[in-house]
Amino acid sequence: MGKQAVKVGLLGLGTIGSRVVELFESNLDMINEKNDLQLVLERVAERDPEKLKSLKIPAEKMLTSAFELVKDPNIDIVIELIGGLEPARSLIREALENGKYVVTANKDLIATHGDELLELARSRNLNIYYEASVGGGIPLIRPLKHSLVADRLNRVVGILNGTTNYILTRMSCEGLEFNAALAQAREKGFAEADPSSDIEGRDASYKLMIMAGLAFGCSIDPAQVYVEGITGITVGDINYAREIGCVIKLLAIGEKLPAGIALRVHPTMISQNHPLASVNNEFNAVFIEGELVGEVMFYGRGAGGAPTSTAVMADVVEAARCKEGYVVCNGVEKKTTGTLYVPVEDLSSSFYLRFLAEDRPGVLAAFSKVFGDNQVSLDMVIQKRRVGDLAEIVLVTHLVREAAFRTAVDQVMNLEMIRPNPSTIRLMI
Ligand code: HSE
Repeated sequence: MGKQAVKVGLLGLGTIGSRVVELFESNLDMINEKNDLQLVLERVAERDPEKLKSLKIPAEKMLTSAFELVKDPNIDIVIELIGGLEPARSLIREALENGKYVVTANKDLIATHGDELLELARSRNLNIYYEASVGGGIPLIRPLKHSLVADRLNRVVGILNGTTNYILTRMSCEGLEFNAALAQAREKGFAEADPSSDIEGRDASYKLMIMAGLAFGCSIDPAQVYVEGITGITVGDINYAREIGCVIKLLAIGEKLPAGIALRVHPTMISQNHPLASVNNEFNAVFIEGELVGEVMFYGRGAGGAPTSTAVMADVVEAARCKEGYVVCNGVEKKTTGTLYVPVEDLSSSFYLRFLAEDRPGVLAAFSKVFGDNQVSLDMVIQKRRVGDLAEIVLVTHLVREAAFRTAVDQVMNLEMIRPNPSTIRLMI
């Protein structure tokens, strides 16, 4: 007598959804055999009928209405790969209210409404699985939820966005300016038609919020995450970084400090010897730091349909094992509320600062005095390039509280011999 089928419904045939269908076609026997399951891809819902036509599944299994699928009493597990907040949120709510387990890759939704949706799942004795929402094919959620639970985790640092890492790598290796590198990322399929969430750092911030919430066991308020993207980075900055032994990476940094949680995403100069410096192109890597375990590093393909489809399918397997009673449905993700945050202004960093100044006597003395008056100590001063008749000045500070540095920079920019719009990048050496 065969096992009872566990019926899966898929919402969305985009980059990940179409690869999940392929994975069902290519690996289902192996997956079922290995896990003692009988998973079946029962129905697929996609708004665009043209995309549905390409599927090798019977017509009655195809739907253009996602809401019809989440109400189908035959479906046990719903995979949500539509993305965005709505209608994804309503669809997931509806699926849970209709008794279905949910698997999603939707980082925006889990980061901003995850607590509410998980609470609904818990109240129905169901669960939501979201391994694919962070780090594509790299296992990150399951290690945080299971393998590392016995330790106090104090730090999560990583490259969590493949598109921006690809762009920065091309800028660094080929000397391409930002727009040319973005165009190349698009050609290679590493940047979406609208890459704003990636290049402005929001994508990485959602992933950081999800990881930090699990690592530190607290609810995260999106408004408390400092986010700065890579659109202002130039090849000039990358070359200066190289000169001082650094590379520029878009880092997501979550820290549990004595005064609270600090969460930030920003371009960062890191030493060429730092392990994250050699994480290139579309690859992602994350360090999770625990008091007892020390540093644990995860590395792999953080974007792309094929790697991400494996994370989706692993979640489907976990949901199915739960449904079949192999494991207890563990929907517990207890998080403290009332989280205290440390604003970025209160953190200390070394800073790189590049600006243009008139090339005449007293300029260096004038800006040096402003930094000195604000207790900002300079570690390096480079002046070697001219831009027209202006001098390009590059400074690197010693460790300084961000608020003090910003005050000093504002005052320097008010000096009449200094031109506005400086470039500022934090260092993490
Ligand atoms: N666009 C993301 C990235 C992948 O470039 O990393 C999905 O989160």
